[in-house]
Amino acid sequence: MKKQTFKRIEKTWDEFWAEFWRVRLVGGDEASDFKSQQVVEYCWEALGIKRGQRVLDLGCGAGYQARYLAERGAEVHGIDITPVLIKHAQKHFKKHGVTGTFEVDDMRTFTVDKPFDYILVLGMSFGFGTDEENAETIRRIYAALKPGGKLLLTGQHPYGLSNHLGPEWLECDEGLLLHRAEFDEERCRLGGSWELACPDGTIITEGENPEKDGVRCYTVPEIRGLLMQTGFKKVETHGAWYLPPQPLQWFSMELIVTAVKPK
Ligand SMILES: C[S@@+](CC[C@H](N)C(=O)[O-])C[C@H]1O[C@@H](n2cnc3c(N)ncnc32)[C@H](O)[C@@H]1O
Repeated sequence: MKKQTFKRIEKTWDEFWAEFWRVRLVGGDEASDFKSQQVVEYCWEALGIKRGQRVLDLGCGAGYQARYLAERGAEVHGIDITPVLIKHAQKHFKKHGVTGTFEVDDMRTFTVDKPFDYILVLGMSFGFGTDEENAETIRRIYAALKPGGKLLLTGQHPYGLSNHLGPEWLECDEGLLLHRAEFDEERCRLGGSWELACPDGTIITEGENPEKDGVRCYTVPEIRGLLMQTGFKKVETHGAWYLPPQPLQWFSMELIVTAVKPK
């Protein structure tokens, strides 16, 4: 029998996570596309978004949800820290014949020229910073909303962690993708690593990246406190992308938080 040799290759965050995972796998996956439409329908109905209103998709990734917001007639702007994903979002909009604007920016330090009616932080994109940076993101979101404007953010809540902790294997054309989650109990952060095992024995791993410290899992009292201290009112939490909005339960896969900036 031929002796199997293994070789480890570390790819960059852009190559491995952005290009391979978010664009090639998530972007080509029908179930993910269905979920993007479901998420947008939920945001549209639950928040009461109207055609022509200004929506900021913060941490927009490759623009999959932003596209459906634009198709419904919102004036969409997307911000993401990963330049490769912003390029893909622009291409994605062109391909689907919709208009919107995008920029590379950091949600911990962003500012806007003109305030928004709605700000959405989708795909559990809230919480990658330190506690202080996350609090600063909330203050910047507040400043970027019009009076009466609404925020919807998604995060990882700590009650349903068992949904995420097992190792997960995914089969794809390039080989077997392994996701190993790790939870830091002291800091209440969920992190993990990705590895792609190719049939020729090569193991591809991801390098330095902006999410390497994992995501802070806020409890409901913590996130409510953060939002109320900043000035938000009507803070509500829900746990699924079904309409009418479903209550958050300990086993819910999602933490969906909505809040209103007072007039
Ligand atoms: C889990 S993905 C979700 C992407 C998209 N919202 C979706 O649901 O498909 C998290 C996104 O947050 C972006 N991100 C991470 N840290 C960020 C930061 N500090 N500022 C802006 N974007 C950030 C990543 O580049 C990534 O696109």
